[in-house]
Amino acid sequence: MNDGEGTRAAEAQGRRFGPLGTTLVIIPTYNEAENIKTIVGRVRKAVPEAHVLVADDNSPDGTGKLADELAVGDEQVHVLHRKGKEGLGAAYLAGFRWGMEHDFGVLIEMDADGSHQPEELPRLLTALKGADLVLGSRWVPGGRVVNWPRSREFISRGGSLYSRVLLDVPIRDVTGGYRAFRRETLEGLGLGEVASQGYCFQVDLARRAVKAGYHVVEVPITFVERELGDSKMSRDILVEALWRVTTWGVGERVGKILGGGKDGPARS
Ligand code: GDD
Ligand code: MN
Repeated sequence: MNDGEGTRAAEAQGRRFGPLGTTLVIIPTYNEAENIKTIVGRVRKAVPEAHVLVADDNSPDGTGKLADELAVGDEQVHVLHRKGKEGLGAAYLAGFRWGMEHDFGVLIEMDADGSHQPEELPRLLTALKGADLVLGSRWVPGGRVVNWPRSREFISRGGSLYSRVLLDVPIRDVTGGYRAFRRETLEGLGLGEVASQGYCFQVDLARRAVKAGYHVVEVPITFVERELGDSKMSRDILVEALWRVTTWGVGERVGKILGGGKDGPARS
C-alpha cells in the first residue's frame, strides 16, 4: 500500500518467526452474565489447547462468580478479579501481565459478547506464525459486520480512517478488539507507559506496534453484534479516543518538525 508497509513485508519474508507458545485467550468482562458461559465454552471447543482468562471488573451482575464456577470444573479456565470498573485498557494490561507471568507465548484479545467468533481464532493463529501481531479486521476485503446499526459502523469506520491518516499507520481496522500477540511483541510495546483506558487502548497498541517496526497482519473477520447484554461504548470513551488520537498525531508531527524525523523506524 505504501513504501513503509512494503519494506516491512519484505523484511518479514526474510525473517524467521519463532514457534508459537501456549495460547491464552483474555476476555475482559463487565456485566456479561448472559454471555460468559457461552463464550468460554465456544473458545474451549474451537481451540481446545488454549487457556482462557476472564478479567472481570467486579461486575455487579455477578459475571465474576459465574466465571469462578466455570474455572472450578476446568483447569484451563482462569479468573482475574479486579476491584472495580477501570476500563478495557486497564483490564487488558492486567491480563497481559498475568499471562506473561504464567509463561504464555501467545496472548489473544477477545470480547465476551460473541462479536469475536472463537471459531475464527485458528485463522488468526495461523497468520501469527508469520507475524508479530495479527489483527482481526472488519474493514479489509472478506471482513464484515453483522447487525450493526449504520450509526455505529459510521463511527467505527470514521475512527479507523481518522487514526490511520493522523497517526500514519497502514491499518484498515485500527480500533478492532480481536487480536493475537506474540508475547515478545507485547514486551516490546512499552506497556508500562500506556495510559489509554477505553477502546482507544486498541488504537494505542496498534500504533505502538507499527512504530516499533513489528510485522502487523490484518486477517478478515466477521464481527457479529451482541444479542444479549449491552455495549459499554459511551460518550466518555469516544471523547477519550478522539482526544488521545489527536494529541498523538499532533505530537508526532511537531516532533518530526523539531527533531528532523529521527524518532520513526525506517522512515525518511
Ligand atoms: N473488565 C472490563 N472493564 N471489561 C470491559 C470494560 C471495563 O471497563 N468495558 C468493556 N469491557 C468488556 C465488555 O464486557 C466486552 O467483553 C468487551 O469489553 C467489549 O465491550 P463492548 O461494550 O461489547 O464493546 P463494543 O461491542 O461496543 O465495541 C467493540 O468495538 C470497539 C470498536 O471497534 C469492541 O470490539 C471494542 O474492543 C472495539 O474497540
Ligand atoms: Mn460488543
